[in-house]
Amino acid sequence: MDAIDVITTKRDGRELSREQIDWMIDAYTRGAVAEEQMAALAMAVLLNGMDRREIADWTRAMIASGERMDWSGLDRPTADKHSTGGVGDKITLPLAPLAAACGAAVPQLSGRGLGHTGGTLDKLESIPGWRASLSGTEMLGVLRDAGAVVCAAGSGLAPADRKLYALRDVTGTVESIPLIASSIMSKKIAEGTGSLVLDVKVGSGAFMKTVERARELARTMVELGTDAGVRTVALLTAMDRPLGLAVGNALEVAESVEVLAGGGPSDVVELTVRLAREMLAAAGITGGKDPEDALKDGSAMDTWRRMITAQGGDLDAPLPRAAETHTVLAPASGVLSHLDAYAVGVAAWRLGAGRARKEDPVSFGAGIVLHAKPGDVVQEGTPLMTLHTDDPSRFPRAQDSLSDAYTIGPAPALLPLIIDRLTP
Ligand code: URA
Repeated sequence: MDAIDVITTKRDGRELSREQIDWMIDAYTRGAVAEEQMAALAMAVLLNGMDRREIADWTRAMIASGERMDWSGLDRPTADKHSTGGVGDKITLPLAPLAAACGAAVPQLSGRGLGHTGGTLDKLESIPGWRASLSGTEMLGVLRDAGAVVCAAGSGLAPADRKLYALRDVTGTVESIPLIASSIMSKKIAEGTGSLVLDVKVGSGAFMKTVERARELARTMVELGTDAGVRTVALLTAMDRPLGLAVGNALEVAESVEVLAGGGPSDVVELTVRLAREMLAAAGITGGKDPEDALKDGSAMDTWRRMITAQGGDLDAPLPRAAETHTVLAPASGVLSHLDAYAVGVAAWRLGAGRARKEDPVSFGAGIVLHAKPGDVVQEGTPLMTLHTDDPSRFPRAQDSLSDAYTIGPAPALLPLIIDRLTP
């Protein structure tokens, strides 16, 4: 087998055999296939696609490049959620303890943010003392004790994807549905969860800008999960405007704690409860406590406290706060008809909440708090949003990103929060 054969097969629009895929992924992971050869193959896949069998083989080969975790020793069924990412998407924080409080075991391996979307680990690291890296034994310990664990994926999990994702990032080959689906699902299947709920975001703040593309990605991932024996369902959800009112690491932790205390913005509560019900159903847990009740009776909050303190987090210490704030005022009275998720995400990133390169630090206190959401009536001169940063020289660039981000005018044409549900 040689790399040029594999590249030209896909370049010419033909199907890759299982043997070609296995060989290429294995040789690339070992360093026997050059980065430029894999880049050429990734571009050929982006342009010519892969069919269901090829995507399944590609995913299986990436899983086989590393270890596969096994939670069969637990006394509860496992369930996880994966979101394709968006602005203000802090749902994992209240959701993992909530699903655990209702009877699921939630082993969640999460990532850090890059660009305008935040990462769950960055958010949790804003809690003083909280530690993202756990050994396999520690992960099992937290899972047994709290019912949920959120931590960083070790380097042994789907190493082929780790290498390939970094390459795609710099070769214009991220936006391929077969490559995105196999990248996400190889990690989730290797993580060893028995059931999985996918939250595929749609809109300006998401990877997938249209419902059609999001549906195709969701369908591909549901097929991959199902073929690998993981009970998988997907929701398509709105990301044309930010989720909740807080965007930025510590700000989102504070909002998540409000949800766990029985309050919080209605869209965050609705999506958290719906995803928790989907996780329980996918895991086959019926007749137990309903997630809405677990938010009201404090059991989800108790689980959150156990889960965070088990990883060194000090929940009595104050969360980091940015040194400087600037309030943006409504320029007119009327209905806020549009508030663009992508522009708000870029502004929060420019304030220091996100990173441009993987190795950059994030500012935990930076971000944006919204005072109005699309559909709300605002009065001229009242606060629309507050920008938070440690470095006031960042305000002008953040404000540039917000200059066309909102409209006060006619009634909004918004995507419904939950657009669609896909099952195998
Ligand atoms: N997230 C991933 O893990 N992989 C992709 O390809 C895109 C988003």
